[in-house]
Parts: sequence; C-alpha cells; structure tokens
Amino acid sequence: METPSYVKHQRLIAWVQEVAARCKPDRVVWCDGSKEEYDTLMGEMTTSGMAIKLNEEKRPNSYLFRSDPKDVARVEDRTFICSRREQDAGPTNNWMQPDEMKKILNGLFDGCMQGRPMYVIPFCMGPLGSDISHIGIEITDSPYVVVNMHIMTRAGKAVIEHLGENGEFVPCIHSVGHPLLPGQEDVPWPCNNDEKYIVHFPEERAIMSYGSGYGGNALLGKKCFALRIASCMARDQGWLAEHMLILGVTEPSGVKTYVAAAFPSACGKTNFAMLIPPKELDGYKITTVGDDIAWIKPGDDGKLYAINPEAGFFGVAPGTSYDSNPNAMESIKHDSIFTNVALTPDGDVWWEGMTEETPPELTDWNGNPWTAGCGRPSSHPNSRFTAPLANCPCADPAYEDPKGVPLEAFIFGGRRSSTVPLVMQAYNWNYGVYLAATMGSETTAAATGAVGNVRRDPFAMLPFIGYHMGDYWSHWMDVGRSISNPPRIFGVNWFRKDKDGQYVWPGFGDNMRILKWIVDKVHGRTYAEESPLGWVPRYEDIDWTGLDFTEDEFDEIMSVDRAIWEAEILSHEELFIKLYDRLPKEFMMIRQLTLSQLWRAPEHWEPTHVTAPYVK
Ligand code: GTP
Ligand code: SPV
Ligand code: MN
Repeated sequence: METPSYVKHQRLIAWVQEVAARCKPDRVVWCDGSKEEYDTLMGEMTTSGMAIKLNEEKRPNSYLFRSDPKDVARVEDRTFICSRREQDAGPTNNWMQPDEMKKILNGLFDGCMQGRPMYVIPFCMGPLGSDISHIGIEITDSPYVVVNMHIMTRAGKAVIEHLGENGEFVPCIHSVGHPLLPGQEDVPWPCNNDEKYIVHFPEERAIMSYGSGYGGNALLGKKCFALRIASCMARDQGWLAEHMLILGVTEPSGVKTYVAAAFPSACGKTNFAMLIPPKELDGYKITTVGDDIAWIKPGDDGKLYAINPEAGFFGVAPGTSYDSNPNAMESIKHDSIFTNVALTPDGDVWWEGMTEETPPELTDWNGNPWTAGCGRPSSHPNSRFTAPLANCPCADPAYEDPKGVPLEAFIFGGRRSSTVPLVMQAYNWNYGVYLAATMGSETTAAATGAVGNVRRDPFAMLPFIGYHMGDYWSHWMDVGRSISNPPRIFGVNWFRKDKDGQYVWPGFGDNMRILKWIVDKVHGRTYAEESPLGWVPRYEDIDWTGLDFTEDEFDEIMSVDRAIWEAEILSHEELFIKLYDRLPKEFMMIRQLTLSQLWRAPEHWEPTHVTAPYVK
C-alpha cells in the first residue's frame, strides 16, 4: 500500500520505509482505526484459525484467541532498559549498551516480517489534544496487536492528522519474530520461543519488541510506552507515570473525590477501580477513570491532575464474576477480545471463578477437550479480556476529559498475608514515598507461576521503571516539594490472613468502608490515632453498618508487632543497599524514626492502645 495522502509527516514516512526495508514484509498497511478495518482483520483471523468468533447472540462482536502455550505473560527477564550508561538503568533493570543491543535487534529484525503484512498503527495515549497525552506509532506484523490497540488506545487516522508535519511521536517496533518463507504455513499464534527481547531506549524514547505476541510484550502503548518510556519523560518534565488505577468517589452529599491507587499486577486494581459499595453504603458511588495506568501532572492550582492514557481494560479473567466484579462482567458483554480462556460448547467463554457452577465440558485454553474435575484449569491464570472503557457501566464521565481529574489521595497496597495493617496514612509526603518504596507483595501465579514469596515491588513499579529506581524515588520526593496541595498518601492491605490461612478482611465491595475513611480523612472530617507506622482509624471511625466485623478482628488486622517489623525493616535495607548511591537521604532518617516509634510503642501494638492524641 502507498503511503496515504493524509500522512504529511516526512520523518514518520522515512522511518516507516526504513523499518519496512529491514523487516521485508509483503506489504505495508497504514491503519486508520475504523470499524471496517477492525471487522476485516477479525474476519481474516477467523478464516485463518487465529481467532474464534464467539456466539453472536451470547457475546456479540467478540472473539477468542489462544496463544502459544509458551507465550502467556510479560517476560521480565527478557526486558531491557538500554540507556547509554548502565548506572542510569540501575540494578533493578536488565541493561545492555544501546549500540550492542541494536546490532542484535537489527539482525533479528532483518527479514522478520517476510510473508506477512506490516501494520502501522498511529495511537494516542490519553485523550487526543490533552496536554497530558502523548503519541506513539507502533509498527507490528501481528493483526492481533492491531485489534487490541483499537480497543486499548485511541488509534487511527485522527492521530496522524493531529501529528501534522512535524509532531513528536514515540517509535515502537514490534514483530512476533516468525517470518513465513515461501510455501511455509502459518500457525494460529506465531511467536518466537527461542528469542524474545522487549527493549527500551530511554534517551531516544524508542521501543523495540521481538518474539512475543502477548499483552504487555506486544501492545507497546501499555507498559513499554505508558510506563517505562513515559517514566523517563516524566522524570525530565516534572510529572508522574504510574501503575495506578484512578477512581472517583461520589458521596451521598454529591461531593466527588478522585483517588489513584497502585497495587502490583494481579492484586486487585481492576476490582478496586470498579468497586460496588455494599448496600448499606449505597449512597456512595464509584466511577472508573482507569484500572492500570495513570499519567499525573501538576496543575496551576497546586494539585495533581491524572488521566488514564488507555482507552480499554486488559484485565485478568479468572476470578472475574458477577459476584466479584459486576462492572467488569458488563464491560465484556460485547465488542471484547478474550485470550487464553476456555470455550463453552455453545460458543461462549468461561474461566475459573466466573460462575458458581462449573460447566461439565469445555474446550480449554489450549484447544483441548476439558471436563470438570479433570484436574487442569480450563483457562490460563493470566488469561485476559480486552474491553473498551466505554462499555463500562461505571465509567467516569471525566475519563475523556483532557484536563484530567484532581487527585486527593494516593493509595498503595500489596498482597501481604501478615505484617502490614489493613490501612494507614503516612505522616507526611516523605513517609508516604518511603511506604510506597518499601511495598512488598507475595507473588501470584499470574506473573510467575510461583506463589507466596514476598517480592519488594516499590510503587508496584518494579518491572516498569525506565531508569534507576533510586532516582525514581528522588523524583517522587521532588514532585511532593513542588506542589502546594499534594494528595495525601495511604497504605492498604486487603490480604492479611489469620492463623488458619483465611483472609481476615472480606475485601471487594467492603473495601468501600476503608475508602470512605480515606475520603473523610483527606477532607478533615474524621479522626485517626498514631500507630508506630502511621495514622490509623479507630474502630469507631469506620462505618460497619451491615458487616459483622468485631473490634477484636479489627485489632488483629491493624496490629503492629515490633519483632515482625524489625525483620521487615531489615529487609527494606536489602533493597536500599543495592540502590545506596542514589537513595534519597531522607530514607535513612525515616527508617531510624520508624524503628524508634516501634520501640516506644508496646511490643504488640493494637489500635485500642491509644498512645497519642487523635488528629483530624
Ligand atoms: P494487572 O492487570 O495484572 O495489573 O492486575 P490488577 O491489579 O488489575 O489485578 P486484578 O484486579 O485482576 O486482580 C485480581 C486478583 O485480586 C484476583 O485474584 C482477585 O480475587 C483478587 N482481589 C481483588 N480484590 C480483592 C480483595 O479486596 N480481597 C481479596 N482477598 N482479593 C482481591
Ligand atoms: C500487568 O502485568 O501489570 C498487566 C498485564 O497489566 S500486561 O499488560 O500484560 O503487562
Ligand atoms: Mn498492570
């Protein structure tokens, strides 16, 4: 295909030609983002066997894809930050010298698209025209990537028109790394299981991805651009690119408060972003701006404003049900893509936890017959749905507002079966940065297959910071100092377990009770007492209507044990030592202060032990 006449950007045209010359595709297709384009690609993929069209009555305009069984999740050990200097990538990222990496990649990309079309996808992260938004162009040989980018980003012709003759864009090159030589037959999910590279050049602001077709490895607007490259842009330009959901809380009085929350992958961002309050608190309404990524910039009024750079949800399927997340279930009723879930005999999808009753027979995510009780899961634990944000019944009216929404609170939370209390507020911004920086989470099957080890996941950003983590923490300190009206910072842990290994906290909708306290607290309407770790609610400060949760249970889930915390603080030290030369100076002081607070408090601290005056 010729370059369409609406493309006036010579640098873009030259780059596309250069990539085509190297990758040697059959033809070049400029994507216009239209419905016809989407339908045509889905039609082609259905014919070729890559996609399965679902039952039009049960799941209109929706498709199922099955990946190669070895290409099912992000590959963190194949992800590289190729800054010029190794120390700028820092010890938490894989690094290679950029020229050396380019030599390898240029070799791999040489001829890698033979026998396939090369798609050029112009996309905007964030509402087109917003000061907070940024544009990218993804070149890919995967039609699966094109249809997903249609849902996950604002993709198409309008972006090219907005770029004009000279606009800035982030160049993103992707190949599944599976050329088709003459006569060679295609497979349903082409990828390359010998070589995978997910590579970022932060100084050039460029991305190259080879060998995988799945999720964050291939939809380059998501983790690669909106987090790794954007975090570098944010550092240089004084803003924040974060692995956070954004939600609005509307109170019975009509007052609306926006908060952003960072939980590691598969720790409940989608659930929290779409929370439905328990019926006793049904005067409250939650609306969703985003469920995975937030771009946050200071406004003229000294507040931070956030946009969701994405336009859809790429959510974990297993566990999603009308019970756990009705809004997600409504969002995926039509016009959605499913990857690696099971197929029902009547052409619909199913996954573990979707319904109370397990269907007797399914086709599993590998395409094999499956029967209830066969001992294998029907869907991969990291199987996902792709759904437009516009489908979501609780989408916040401001999700397309180019100004973004003003944030009043940041919430950080990992998956910790012990140690970390249900909720606390950091004493101040610097404490909050420390709290977020030392966040840990127990690993789940979705990412690694291994379950239960605590991994430090600072800001839920460990795999997503495009530069040195110590500098990232300093950047957060600087942002706090540069704004007059910063959001308050809170920590939560929905996952604490009792002696029998049961979750103590009911979670899900009941998280509204904690969110209500947080909202009341940022508006100065409720009280807190001082714990050794931060400000915490008293039992009577939480609205318990309709929930049988005793003061004893509350004490258990809020308790702070000195011995356990000494070990926890020692393990913070492990991370700090790795980052020592770029650690914010404040961190050592905060660590010492926290230790002294633990020592002045009882060995086993509970909220009923009031040791300091209540504060608003
Ligand atoms: P990514 O899309 O990978 O970034 O993850 P995410 O944070 O959006 O994950 P998601 O919302 O899909 O997390 C799903 C997991 O969290 C499921 O196992 C849920 O059962 C669990 N979960 C969500 N909310 C709660 C809660 O309040 N309590 C408990 N115990 N589990 C929860
Ligand atoms: C995550 O792993 O945090 C995700 C899924 O949101 S992916 O887009 O594949 O990175
Ligand atoms: Mn995520």
